[in-house]
Amino acid sequence: MATKTFKLNTGANIPALGLGTWQGESTQVKDAVVAALKSGYRLIDTAYCYGNEEHVGAGLKEAFDQGIVKREDVFVVTKLWATYTSRAEEGLEKSLRNLGLEYVDLFLVHWPLLMNPEGNDDRFPKLPNGERDILRDYSHVQIWKNMEKLVGSGRTKAIGVSNYSKRYLEELLPHAKIVPAVNQIENHPQLPQQEIVDFCKEKGIHIMAYSPFGSTGSPVTSAEPVIKIAEKHGVKPTTVLLSYHLYRGSTVLPKSTNPERIEANAKLIELDAEDQKLLNDYSEGLVKEGKVQRYVYPPFGVDFGFPDKS
Ligand SMILES: NC(=O)c1ccc[n+]([C@@H]2O[C@H](COP(=O)([O-])OP(=O)(O)OC[C@H]3O[C@@H](n4cnc5c(N)ncnc54)[C@H](OP(=O)(O)O)[C@@H]3O)[C@@H](O)[C@H]2O)c1
Repeated sequence: MATKTFKLNTGANIPALGLGTWQGESTQVKDAVVAALKSGYRLIDTAYCYGNEEHVGAGLKEAFDQGIVKREDVFVVTKLWATYTSRAEEGLEKSLRNLGLEYVDLFLVHWPLLMNPEGNDDRFPKLPNGERDILRDYSHVQIWKNMEKLVGSGRTKAIGVSNYSKRYLEELLPHAKIVPAVNQIENHPQLPQQEIVDFCKEKGIHIMAYSPFGSTGSPVTSAEPVIKIAEKHGVKPTTVLLSYHLYRGSTVLPKSTNPERIEANAKLIELDAEDQKLLNDYSEGLVKEGKVQRYVYPPFGVDFGFPDKS
Protein backbone atom coordinates (compact mmCIF):
# COMPACT_ATOMS: atom_id res chain seq x y z
CA MET A 1 0.00 0.00 0.00
CA ALA A 2 2.99 2.31 0.46
CA THR A 3 3.15 2.54 -3.33
CA LYS A 4 -0.47 3.60 -3.92
CA THR A 5 -0.85 7.09 -5.38
CA PHE A 6 -3.53 9.70 -6.05
CA LYS A 7 -3.64 12.21 -8.90
CA LEU A 8 -3.23 15.93 -8.20
CA ASN A 9 -4.92 18.67 -10.23
CA THR A 10 -1.47 19.35 -11.74
CA GLY A 11 -1.49 15.87 -13.30
CA ALA A 12 1.29 14.65 -10.99
CA ASN A 13 0.90 11.59 -8.77
CA ILE A 14 1.07 11.97 -5.01
CA PRO A 15 1.71 8.96 -2.75
CA ALA A 16 -1.12 7.85 -0.44
CA LEU A 17 1.33 7.56 2.46
CA GLY A 18 4.03 9.91 3.66
CA LEU A 19 6.37 10.24 6.62
CA GLY A 20 5.57 13.09 9.01
CA THR A 21 8.58 14.75 10.63
CA TRP A 22 7.18 17.33 13.05
CA GLN A 23 8.95 17.16 16.43
CA GLY A 24 11.56 14.86 14.91
CA GLU A 25 15.02 16.15 15.72
CA SER A 26 18.56 15.96 14.35
CA THR A 27 19.99 12.51 13.58
CA GLN A 28 16.75 10.84 14.70
CA VAL A 29 14.83 12.47 11.88
CA LYS A 30 17.64 11.87 9.40
CA ASP A 31 17.58 8.16 10.26
CA ALA A 32 13.77 8.14 10.14
CA VAL A 33 13.82 9.49 6.57
CA VAL A 34 16.28 6.79 5.49
CA ALA A 35 14.27 4.07 7.29
CA ALA A 36 11.02 5.27 5.70
CA LEU A 37 12.47 5.30 2.19
CA LYS A 38 13.84 1.78 2.80
CA SER A 39 10.37 0.69 3.95
CA GLY A 40 8.81 1.92 0.71
CA TYR A 41 7.57 5.41 1.65
CA ARG A 42 7.87 7.81 -1.27
CA LEU A 43 6.68 11.02 0.39
CA ILE A 44 8.39 13.04 3.12
CA ASP A 45 6.59 15.95 4.79
CA THR A 46 8.51 18.69 6.56
CA ALA A 47 8.26 22.45 7.16
CA TYR A 48 10.53 25.43 7.74
CA CYS A 49 8.87 25.89 11.12
CA TYR A 50 9.86 22.39 12.28
CA GLY A 51 13.51 23.48 12.27
CA ASN A 52 14.52 20.09 10.88
CA GLU A 53 14.70 20.62 7.11
CA GLU A 54 18.50 20.23 7.23
CA HIS A 55 18.16 16.83 8.89
CA VAL A 56 15.44 15.74 6.48
CA GLY A 57 17.75 16.86 3.68
CA ALA A 58 20.62 14.86 5.19
CA GLY A 59 18.39 11.76 5.27
CA LEU A 60 17.40 12.28 1.65
CA LYS A 61 21.03 12.72 0.64
CA GLU A 62 22.01 9.52 2.43
CA ALA A 63 19.19 7.63 0.69
CA PHE A 64 20.24 9.04 -2.71
CA ASP A 65 23.92 8.25 -2.04
CA GLN A 66 23.08 4.68 -0.95
CA GLY A 67 20.97 4.20 -4.10
CA ILE A 68 17.77 3.53 -2.08
CA VAL A 69 15.84 6.03 -4.22
CA LYS A 70 16.47 8.68 -6.83
CA ARG A 71 15.42 12.28 -6.30
CA GLU A 72 12.67 12.01 -8.93
CA ASP A 73 11.13 9.06 -7.10
CA VAL A 74 10.53 10.93 -3.82
CA PHE A 75 7.75 13.46 -3.28
CA VAL A 76 9.13 16.14 -0.95
CA VAL A 77 6.76 18.55 0.76
CA THR A 78 7.69 21.62 2.76
CA LYS A 79 5.78 24.66 3.98
CA LEU A 80 5.99 28.44 3.97
CA TRP A 81 6.06 29.63 7.56
CA ALA A 82 3.86 32.50 8.77
CA THR A 83 6.72 35.03 9.10
CA TYR A 84 7.46 34.50 5.38
CA THR A 85 3.97 34.60 3.84
CA SER A 86 4.65 38.08 2.39
CA ARG A 87 8.01 36.77 1.06
CA ALA A 88 7.11 33.44 -0.50
CA GLU A 89 10.13 33.29 -2.79
CA GLU A 90 12.56 33.98 0.07
CA GLY A 91 10.80 31.35 2.18
CA LEU A 92 11.02 28.74 -0.56
CA GLU A 93 14.69 29.50 -1.27
CA LYS A 94 15.55 29.17 2.44
CA SER A 95 13.77 25.82 2.63
CA LEU A 96 15.54 24.54 -0.49
CA ARG A 97 18.90 25.61 0.94
CA ASN A 98 18.11 23.81 4.21
CA LEU A 99 16.99 20.68 2.39
CA GLY A 100 19.90 20.75 -0.06
CA LEU A 101 17.48 20.29 -2.95
CA GLU A 102 17.00 21.99 -6.31
CA TYR A 103 13.20 21.75 -6.05
CA VAL A 104 10.39 20.46 -3.86
CA ASP A 105 7.38 18.61 -5.20
CA LEU A 106 4.89 20.62 -3.19
CA PHE A 107 5.11 23.89 -1.27
CA LEU A 108 2.27 24.71 1.11
CA VAL A 109 1.13 27.81 2.97
CA HIS A 110 1.52 26.41 6.49
CA TRP A 111 -1.16 28.59 8.14
CA PRO A 112 -3.11 31.43 6.46
CA LEU A 113 -1.68 34.44 8.28
CA LEU A 114 1.29 36.79 8.36
CA MET A 115 3.38 37.13 11.48
CA ASN A 116 5.62 40.19 11.63
CA PRO A 117 8.56 39.58 9.24
CA GLU A 118 10.49 42.27 11.14
CA GLY A 119 9.51 41.05 14.57
CA ASN A 120 11.73 39.90 17.42
CA ASP A 121 11.97 36.27 16.28
CA ASP A 122 12.35 34.53 12.90
CA ARG A 123 9.55 32.05 13.60
CA PHE A 124 7.51 33.16 16.62
CA PRO A 125 7.77 36.95 17.00
CA LYS A 126 6.06 38.32 20.07
CA LEU A 127 4.81 41.76 21.13
CA PRO A 128 6.15 43.31 24.36
CA ASN A 129 2.98 42.07 26.14
CA GLY A 130 3.84 38.46 25.20
CA GLU A 131 1.13 38.06 22.54
CA ARG A 132 2.07 36.75 19.10
CA ASP A 133 3.11 39.53 16.72
CA ILE A 134 0.61 39.11 13.87
CA LEU A 135 -0.13 41.55 11.04
CA ARG A 136 -3.87 41.01 11.07
CA ASP A 137 -4.71 43.23 8.08
CA TYR A 138 -2.67 41.12 5.64
CA SER A 139 -5.11 39.13 3.54
CA HIS A 140 -4.78 35.39 3.04
CA VAL A 141 -5.77 35.97 -0.61
CA GLN A 142 -2.60 38.05 -1.00
CA ILE A 143 -0.62 35.17 0.54
CA TRP A 144 -1.93 32.90 -2.22
CA LYS A 145 -1.07 35.47 -4.91
CA ASN A 146 2.51 35.46 -3.53
CA MET A 147 2.54 31.66 -3.83
CA GLU A 148 1.24 31.72 -7.40
CA LYS A 149 4.33 33.70 -8.47
CA LEU A 150 6.47 30.65 -7.59
CA VAL A 151 4.90 28.46 -10.24
CA GLY A 152 7.08 28.21 -13.30
CA SER A 153 10.28 28.94 -11.33
CA GLY A 154 11.16 25.27 -11.39
CA ARG A 155 11.74 25.44 -7.63
CA THR A 156 8.43 23.81 -6.71
CA LYS A 157 6.37 21.45 -8.84
CA ALA A 158 3.10 22.40 -7.18
CA ILE A 159 1.64 24.81 -4.63
CA GLY A 160 -1.03 24.25 -2.06
CA VAL A 161 -2.37 25.25 1.32
CA SER A 162 -2.61 23.86 4.82
CA ASN A 163 -5.07 24.55 7.61
CA TYR A 164 -7.60 26.21 5.28
CA SER A 165 -11.25 25.98 6.29
CA LYS A 166 -14.09 25.81 3.79
CA ARG A 167 -14.77 29.48 4.52
CA TYR A 168 -11.19 30.48 3.71
CA LEU A 169 -11.19 28.43 0.49
CA GLU A 170 -14.49 30.00 -0.57
CA GLU A 171 -12.91 33.42 -0.06
CA LEU A 172 -9.75 32.38 -1.90
CA LEU A 173 -10.92 30.51 -4.99
CA PRO A 174 -12.67 33.41 -6.81
CA HIS A 175 -9.31 35.24 -6.77
CA ALA A 176 -7.07 32.26 -7.54
CA LYS A 177 -5.44 31.86 -10.95
CA ILE A 178 -4.17 28.48 -9.75
CA VAL A 179 -6.37 26.18 -7.67
CA PRO A 180 -4.34 24.84 -4.73
CA ALA A 181 -3.20 21.27 -5.47
CA VAL A 182 -3.59 20.25 -1.83
CA ASN A 183 -5.12 21.26 1.48
CA GLN A 184 -3.24 19.64 4.37
CA ILE A 185 -5.47 19.46 7.45
CA GLU A 186 -5.76 17.63 10.75
CA ASN A 187 -7.93 14.62 9.95
CA HIS A 188 -8.97 11.47 11.83
CA PRO A 189 -12.25 9.94 13.01
CA GLN A 190 -12.41 12.39 15.94
CA LEU A 191 -12.01 15.36 13.56
CA PRO A 192 -13.54 14.32 10.21
CA GLN A 193 -13.79 17.90 8.85
CA GLN A 194 -16.22 16.48 6.33
CA GLU A 195 -17.32 19.91 5.05
CA ILE A 196 -13.72 20.70 4.03
CA VAL A 197 -13.05 17.23 2.62
CA ASP A 198 -16.24 17.35 0.49
CA PHE A 199 -15.59 20.91 -0.68
CA CYS A 200 -11.99 20.11 -1.64
CA LYS A 201 -13.09 17.00 -3.52
CA GLU A 202 -15.60 19.07 -5.49
CA LYS A 203 -12.89 21.63 -6.37
CA GLY A 204 -10.15 19.11 -7.22
CA ILE A 205 -8.04 19.90 -4.15
CA HIS A 206 -6.38 16.80 -2.69
CA ILE A 207 -6.52 16.28 1.07
CA MET A 208 -3.39 15.42 3.03
CA ALA A 209 -4.37 14.23 6.49
CA TYR A 210 -2.07 15.24 9.31
CA SER A 211 -1.94 14.00 12.93
CA PRO A 212 -3.75 10.75 11.99
CA PHE A 213 -3.21 9.39 15.54
CA GLY A 214 -4.08 12.71 17.22
CA SER A 215 -0.40 13.76 17.44
CA THR A 216 1.72 13.38 20.60
CA GLY A 217 0.59 10.43 22.71
CA SER A 218 -1.59 9.06 19.86
CA PRO A 219 -4.91 9.66 21.70
CA VAL A 220 -7.15 8.56 18.79
CA THR A 221 -5.76 5.01 18.98
CA SER A 222 -7.88 4.43 22.11
CA ALA A 223 -11.21 5.35 20.46
CA GLU A 224 -13.60 2.41 20.93
CA PRO A 225 -14.61 1.80 17.29
CA VAL A 226 -10.96 1.97 16.22
CA ILE A 227 -10.04 -0.73 18.73
CA LYS A 228 -13.03 -2.84 17.69
CA ILE A 229 -12.07 -2.74 14.00
CA ALA A 230 -8.42 -3.42 14.83
CA GLU A 231 -9.41 -6.54 16.81
CA LYS A 232 -11.64 -7.74 13.97
CA HIS A 233 -8.77 -7.58 11.46
CA GLY A 234 -6.01 -8.60 13.90
CA VAL A 235 -4.09 -5.36 13.36
CA LYS A 236 -3.05 -2.40 15.53
CA PRO A 237 -5.37 0.61 16.02
CA THR A 238 -2.72 2.71 14.24
CA THR A 239 -3.20 0.58 11.09
CA VAL A 240 -6.96 1.25 11.21
CA LEU A 241 -6.39 4.99 11.60
CA LEU A 242 -4.05 5.09 8.61
CA SER A 243 -6.26 2.86 6.45
CA TYR A 244 -9.24 5.18 7.15
CA HIS A 245 -7.72 7.68 4.73
CA LEU A 246 -7.38 5.19 1.90
CA TYR A 247 -11.14 4.88 1.45
CA ARG A 248 -11.54 8.63 1.93
CA GLY A 249 -9.14 9.17 -0.98
CA SER A 250 -6.66 11.20 1.08
CA THR A 251 -2.92 11.05 1.61
CA VAL A 252 -1.99 10.31 5.22
CA LEU A 253 1.10 11.43 7.14
CA PRO A 254 2.02 9.36 10.19
CA LYS A 255 5.02 10.66 12.12
CA SER A 256 7.46 8.30 13.77
CA THR A 257 11.17 8.26 14.43
CA ASN A 258 11.05 4.63 15.54
CA PRO A 259 12.17 2.26 12.71
CA GLU A 260 9.78 -0.58 13.70
CA ARG A 261 6.83 1.81 13.84
CA ILE A 262 7.85 3.44 10.57
CA GLU A 263 7.78 0.03 8.91
CA ALA A 264 4.52 -1.01 10.62
CA ASN A 265 2.84 2.24 9.52
CA ALA A 266 3.57 1.42 5.87
CA LYS A 267 1.23 -1.59 5.98
CA LEU A 268 -2.29 -0.35 5.38
CA ILE A 269 -5.36 -2.55 4.95
CA GLU A 270 -8.64 -2.17 3.11
CA LEU A 271 -11.47 -1.41 5.51
CA ASP A 272 -14.79 -2.98 4.52
CA ALA A 273 -18.21 -1.29 4.33
CA GLU A 274 -19.06 -2.29 7.92
CA ASP A 275 -15.80 -0.74 9.26
CA GLN A 276 -16.35 2.41 7.26
CA LYS A 277 -19.91 2.75 8.59
CA LEU A 278 -18.72 2.28 12.19
CA LEU A 279 -16.08 4.99 11.82
CA ASN A 280 -18.36 7.36 9.93
CA ASP A 281 -21.17 6.93 12.50
CA TYR A 282 -18.66 7.56 15.30
CA SER A 283 -17.49 10.78 13.60
CA GLU A 284 -21.02 11.96 12.91
CA GLY A 285 -21.96 11.30 16.53
CA LEU A 286 -19.06 13.44 17.79
CA VAL A 287 -19.98 16.25 15.38
CA LYS A 288 -23.64 16.18 16.51
CA GLU A 289 -22.66 16.25 20.18
CA GLY A 290 -20.08 19.02 19.61
CA LYS A 291 -17.36 16.65 20.83
CA VAL A 292 -14.88 16.63 17.95
CA GLN A 293 -11.24 16.78 19.06
CA ARG A 294 -8.76 19.12 17.41
CA TYR A 295 -5.33 18.28 18.80
CA VAL A 296 -3.20 20.76 16.83
CA TYR A 297 -4.26 24.40 17.08
CA PRO A 298 -1.48 26.93 17.71
CA PRO A 299 -2.64 29.90 19.82
CA PHE A 300 -2.57 32.52 17.05
CA GLY A 301 -5.81 34.08 18.27
CA VAL A 302 -7.10 34.20 14.67
CA ASP A 303 -10.49 32.88 13.52
CA PHE A 304 -9.53 30.59 10.62
CA GLY A 305 -13.17 29.64 9.99
CA PHE A 306 -13.23 26.10 11.41
CA PRO A 307 -16.75 25.42 12.74
CA ASP A 308 -15.42 23.86 15.97
CA LYS A 309 -13.26 26.94 16.67
CA SER A 310 -15.28 29.84 15.22
N1 LIG B 1 0.31 21.25 8.29
C1 LIG B 1 0.32 21.30 9.61
O1 LIG B 1 0.02 22.32 10.23
C2 LIG B 1 0.70 20.06 10.37
C3 LIG B 1 0.39 19.99 11.74
C4 LIG B 1 0.71 18.82 12.42
C5 LIG B 1 1.32 17.77 11.74
N2 LIG B 1 1.64 17.89 10.42
C6 LIG B 1 2.33 16.79 9.69
O2 LIG B 1 1.69 15.57 9.95
C7 LIG B 1 2.61 14.66 10.58
C8 LIG B 1 1.92 13.73 11.54
O3 LIG B 1 1.26 14.39 12.57
P1 LIG B 1 1.81 14.45 14.08
O4 LIG B 1 3.28 14.39 14.08
O5 LIG B 1 1.15 15.62 14.71
O6 LIG B 1 1.20 13.19 14.80
P2 LIG B 1 0.74 11.67 14.53
O7 LIG B 1 1.40 11.14 13.31
O8 LIG B 1 -0.74 11.65 14.66
O9 LIG B 1 1.30 10.98 15.84
C9 LIG B 1 2.66 10.92 16.12
C10 LIG B 1 2.82 10.17 17.44
O10 LIG B 1 2.43 8.80 17.26
C11 LIG B 1 3.51 7.92 17.63
N3 LIG B 1 3.45 6.76 16.72
C12 LIG B 1 3.75 6.72 15.41
N4 LIG B 1 3.56 5.48 14.90
C13 LIG B 1 3.13 4.71 15.93
C14 LIG B 1 2.77 3.34 16.02
N5 LIG B 1 2.80 2.52 14.98
N6 LIG B 1 2.37 2.88 17.24
C15 LIG B 1 2.32 3.71 18.32
N7 LIG B 1 2.64 5.03 18.28
C16 LIG B 1 3.05 5.53 17.09
C17 LIG B 1 4.76 8.76 17.45
O11 LIG B 1 5.77 8.33 18.32
P3 LIG B 1 7.23 7.80 17.79
O12 LIG B 1 7.83 8.86 16.92
O13 LIG B 1 7.97 7.58 19.05
O14 LIG B 1 6.94 6.51 17.06
C18 LIG B 1 4.26 10.16 17.88
O15 LIG B 1 4.26 10.30 19.30
C19 LIG B 1 3.61 15.62 11.25
O16 LIG B 1 4.77 14.98 11.66
C20 LIG B 1 3.77 16.64 10.17
O17 LIG B 1 4.62 16.18 9.15
C21 LIG B 1 1.31 19.01 9.72
